[in-house]
Amino acid sequence: MRSDLLVHSAGSLITAAADPGPLRGGALDRPLLLADAAVACVDGRIAALGPTADILARYPERDAAAVIDARDHLVAPGFVDAHTHLPFAGFREMEFEARARGLSYAEVAERGGGIQTSVRALRGTGEEDLAPLVGRRLRRLLAQGTTTVEAKSGYGLDLGEERKQLRAVRTAAAGADCEVIPTFLGAHEFPEEYRDRREEYVDRLCEEMIPSIAAEHLARFCDVFCDRGVYTVPQARRILLRAREQGMLPKLHADELADVGAAALAAEIGAISADHLLHAAPEGLRAMADAGVIAVLLPGTALTLGLPYAPARSMLEMGLAVALATDYNPGSTLCSSMPLMMTLAVTQMKLTPGEAWMAATANAACAVGEGSRLGRIQPGYQADLVLFGPVDYRHVAYHYGEEHVRLVVKRGRVVEDLRQASRCA
Ligand code: NIG
Ligand code: FE
Repeated sequence: MRSDLLVHSAGSLITAAADPGPLRGGALDRPLLLADAAVACVDGRIAALGPTADILARYPERDAAAVIDARDHLVAPGFVDAHTHLPFAGFREMEFEARARGLSYAEVAERGGGIQTSVRALRGTGEEDLAPLVGRRLRRLLAQGTTTVEAKSGYGLDLGEERKQLRAVRTAAAGADCEVIPTFLGAHEFPEEYRDRREEYVDRLCEEMIPSIAAEHLARFCDVFCDRGVYTVPQARRILLRAREQGMLPKLHADELADVGAAALAAEIGAISADHLLHAAPEGLRAMADAGVIAVLLPGTALTLGLPYAPARSMLEMGLAVALATDYNPGSTLCSSMPLMMTLAVTQMKLTPGEAWMAATANAACAVGEGSRLGRIQPGYQADLVLFGPVDYRHVAYHYGEEHVRLVVKRGRVVEDLRQASRCA
């Protein structure tokens, strides 16, 4: 049979089993590991996976449009980064320094910095400048093995500005190989001008902004920063129910800075994911497990802000499906490396390397509603694959601070080939 791309003789291959649901409990620690494996890709999808000899018998090399010998490589699904604030303008290195001098993230925000600094920077950046910026970040993500990224607005806090961010994402995504899933985060902070009349901004979100963003199909999800000093549980509930009514699925920045009951809210409204959860109460987490809400853990944020890491092991014991993401943003995590998130997950949260891989691929895809299309190397799935330098899957997290990506395949096409460059280095 003909194929568009044949990857054969892989030194090793890691993926989740074919079942499309999120991996929980012991299943997270049982990745499928194959030696001398091959993958045949047809029409952008994976047509077959198995031992090289079997696959080559069905999909001969002579009938393949492109062939890759992966004998010195690990083959893995492309990372799905399920939580980023990608369309930002400007940086906040002064806050990085201020925190080193003793201020907390919340104290920086109380003094008019934090998210408000990025809001001001965005207001001074046109859509025509923002879109190429996002495009460059997408190329950088791809080179690090991320083949799909969720991207939130949230530095606009005003219909026109939020729309500008989401339109820039749409423009950049149209010309990029890294796939983008957009999220509306108009409830990231309160705009300065609404500081003392917060309910009025919630009214605007519900009556004007959400319907308009939904009508333009600019976002698949709606997110709210539900935490101490920002949105309360009743405000978040109102915004997310309104968003769902308008066709956007709920997500939450939940209990990052303090336990405000956001995890329980995520369970109550059936959010697709609740993210951060550094301070979430056990009852809230248990409710999330019962309701099937995915816990997206962002260890880069704990690292940057010097906060305690999320209690990943007790979450797994409760039966929660855990995913990993970067939270890439200019304030709390200026990092877009999924391999580094796996390193932090293993060393700081005590996930095994296999669990970290599954959390960064299969479960991350589930956290953006794509568990049956992305995040696995299985027949029928989109052919998004990455070849890494080390053959042993554990090395990618173990040997951190290194570029291990050698080749990236998106929709069955080679979109990044760094093999020659790494040989020269
Ligand atoms: O996920 N917690 C809220 N939002 C981001 C930080 C955004 C910022 O500081 O610009 C986060 O950590
Ligand atoms: Fe975030």
